[in-house]
Amino acid sequence: MTSLLLRQGRLVTAPEITVDIAIQDGKIAAIAPHLNEPADSVLDLENLLVSPPLVESHLHLDSALTAGQPRWNQSGTLFEGIEIWRERKQALTLEDVQERAIATLKLQASQGVLFVRSHADVSEPNQIPLRALLAVRDRVKDWLTLQVVAFPQDGVFSAPHNAERLEEAMKLGADVVGGIPHYELTREDGVKSIQYVFDLAEKYDRAIDIHCDEIDDDQSRFLEVVAAEAIRRQLGGRVTASHTTAFGSYNNAYAFKLMGFLKRANLSFIANPLINLTLQGRTDTYPKRRGLTRVKELWQNGLNLSLGHDCIQDPWYNLGTGSLLEVAAMAVHACQMTGRDELAACYDMITRCGAKTLGLTEQYGLEVGKPANLIALEADDAIAAIRDRATIRHVIAQGTRLVSTTAPTVTWQRSL
Ligand code: FE2
Repeated sequence: MTSLLLRQGRLVTAPEITVDIAIQDGKIAAIAPHLNEPADSVLDLENLLVSPPLVESHLHLDSALTAGQPRWNQSGTLFEGIEIWRERKQALTLEDVQERAIATLKLQASQGVLFVRSHADVSEPNQIPLRALLAVRDRVKDWLTLQVVAFPQDGVFSAPHNAERLEEAMKLGADVVGGIPHYELTREDGVKSIQYVFDLAEKYDRAIDIHCDEIDDDQSRFLEVVAAEAIRRQLGGRVTASHTTAFGSYNNAYAFKLMGFLKRANLSFIANPLINLTLQGRTDTYPKRRGLTRVKELWQNGLNLSLGHDCIQDPWYNLGTGSLLEVAAMAVHACQMTGRDELAACYDMITRCGAKTLGLTEQYGLEVGKPANLIALEADDAIAAIRDRATIRHVIAQGTRLVSTTAPTVTWQRSL
């Protein structure tokens, strides 16, 4: 028996027709223009747009909602953010991290996000961020899929024991191994750190997501090292390069050559337009760089690229609402993705491409037999959803209704 029958929704892939969706045992059991089977409950979608959930592919839940603690980032730079976080993280407790992480995930889930990859700082001996987020991963698992990346915020070889802590994080159960080669003490340490990250990924059978070249320096060229390791070890499908903002500053001859290697390596990419725009370009006068990776060109070359927040109200970014539609809208502007295909691609980047980055393609999408995770938006189509920052009216997680939102009502007080 159908547990939940959704009536009269329009699929984001074919918004011109309406369909009913039957959900049974947490999975999509049928999608057809008219379903007449008995159901435990029925929800009339009233022609809302139905989409797979939004995917947050890059977030730091351990620092979320700490903006201003213990002080504000006045320079707006990545490096002042790291300094402030170093101070704030001395006071972390498991409860503190878990409370803020759950609050942030609820903020995002209420806006249609049901898949999240979060980094956990593993630079401190107590491993509080990682242990807290692993517990959160378990607490939310019946309504949201959380992946946790072991992220060596202070570098792998910049301090004694950091490399051991990264390996310990694998043993504790992190899903993904991370790195930050451009923040190592030397270029050589950066290269060595990438090799170490790949060694751990192979040893513990984990995916890789490296903060790579998050700097305006056109000589920061760790992306080619990541690509080379992915090619040599044939791990490309499981390797993500986050940020790669220096790619936006490389000369075109080098960038053109590199693009060929990236295609061969089959990497995934994540751009974080809200944060990249505000953190990068800080040392420029004018012309001032946008500080983003080559989003449009990576997309045009068929590489998988998704969009993330990176930060929500933390030492690096005081703002952030958790809305991935806002992130996509910022990408549209900052990356000049205003063509119709480009706008649609930006919606893809916060849905299907994000699922691919997270390695979740098998369980993601609006198809019979897949887990019944979906959202219903007040929008004509995907492009309008970005344009209007559409209200996500219903969120269905693993076959059950998780949260509903009423669109704001505008009442004119005069007749015009
Ligand atoms: Fe990040």
